[in-house]
Amino acid sequence: PSDMLIDSFGRLHTYLRISLTERCNLRCQYCMPAEGVELTPSSQLLSQSEIVSLANLFVTSGVNKIRLTGGEPTIRKDIEDICLQLSNLKGLKTLAMTTNGITLARKLPKLKEFGLNSINISLDTLVPAKFEFLTRRRGHEKVLESINAAVDLGYNPVKVNCVVMRGVNDDEICDFVELTRSRPINVRFIEFMPFDGNVWNVKKLVPYYEMLDKVVAKYQGLQRIQDHPSETAKNYRIDGHHGTVSFITSMTEHFCAGCNRLRLLADGNFKVCLFGPSEVSLRDPLRAGAEEDELREIISAAVKRKKAAHAGMFDLAKTANRPMIHIGG
Ligand code: GTP
Ligand code: 5AD
Ligand code: SF4
Repeated sequence: PSDMLIDSFGRLHTYLRISLTERCNLRCQYCMPAEGVELTPSSQLLSQSEIVSLANLFVTSGVNKIRLTGGEPTIRKDIEDICLQLSNLKGLKTLAMTTNGITLARKLPKLKEFGLNSINISLDTLVPAKFEFLTRRRGHEKVLESINAAVDLGYNPVKVNCVVMRGVNDDEICDFVELTRSRPINVRFIEFMPFDGNVWNVKKLVPYYEMLDKVVAKYQGLQRIQDHPSETAKNYRIDGHHGTVSFITSMTEHFCAGCNRLRLLADGNFKVCLFGPSEVSLRDPLRAGAEEDELREIISAAVKRKKAAHAGMFDLAKTANRPMIHIGG
């Protein structure tokens, strides 16, 4: 084993997020501008075999969890093959996906059969009209169907990601908590983060403690669960609830000290932090015929440049980055 995935703060990176596409069947406000984003020409996107060979390089160097993101990962036509090939990588323990759930219900049985063993579904409102406003598209009932399908297929927990925005959905926190009452659902309230084109504004950010207060006020016996050291979420159980409730506090209480995450974007760029403009292409050397060792050195050097927290930036709202749709969370 090399030290390829250990940064200068001693953090070992075992979790790779792979964005499979820049396209999406929704247009969520917190993710992209109304006019959409510029798409990378398809010849410059990673092919299935390029994704698998790069993933293999990471897995043989210590990555044990891969999350597929996008854009929306399920709209990629070869999603099933990708799952099958990645889940066969020796050393990979978890193959996960974060999806908007629009087309998931129908695809999930096959994806499960092909090795997808963890599923996170984004849902920011329980009100259909609000869903249309937030996502600029229809499909609320399809997302609910997908959550049910994931529960029925035995995913446990099914994580539901809810980005909380003041004046938009902060009145729904307790309604979301109700999803956890009798089903193995982990509802995760996420602090709204700034990205290019998402018109972030501090007034729209609902801080962790404010969200927590709303839950405490209504539910008895809220109890913190010990998180794993590298988790993004602070987890809680509620007396009598089958599921759990969590908070992802990137803005008010970052969790960078335990960060174990790296990102491979759809265009083959490698990103060591969610934030900041720093990226290096793995596609170009791969296509130029680079040896594995050369690629490992490029990856290692980028990991060594990773900053302690938030890409070394103090004001994330003023930090150059890509739109979220290109990064995949
Ligand atoms: P699990 O593996 O199930 O714990 O999911 P996850 O939280 O790693 O991934 P998911 O795609 O569900 O993302 C949930 C939220 O966490 C999104 O808002 C992501 O942008 C955010 N997130 C994921 N990774 C990071 C990270 O490394 N740093 C920060 N600040 N936020 C992250
Ligand atoms: N702030 C916080 N979370 C976001 N996500 C997308 N955009 C943002 C943002 N601006 C979430 C999505 C998805 C995950 C990958 O990231 O809801 O669940
Ligand atoms: Fe890791 Fe960067 Fe996220 Fe912090 S902001 S947890 S360093 S990816």
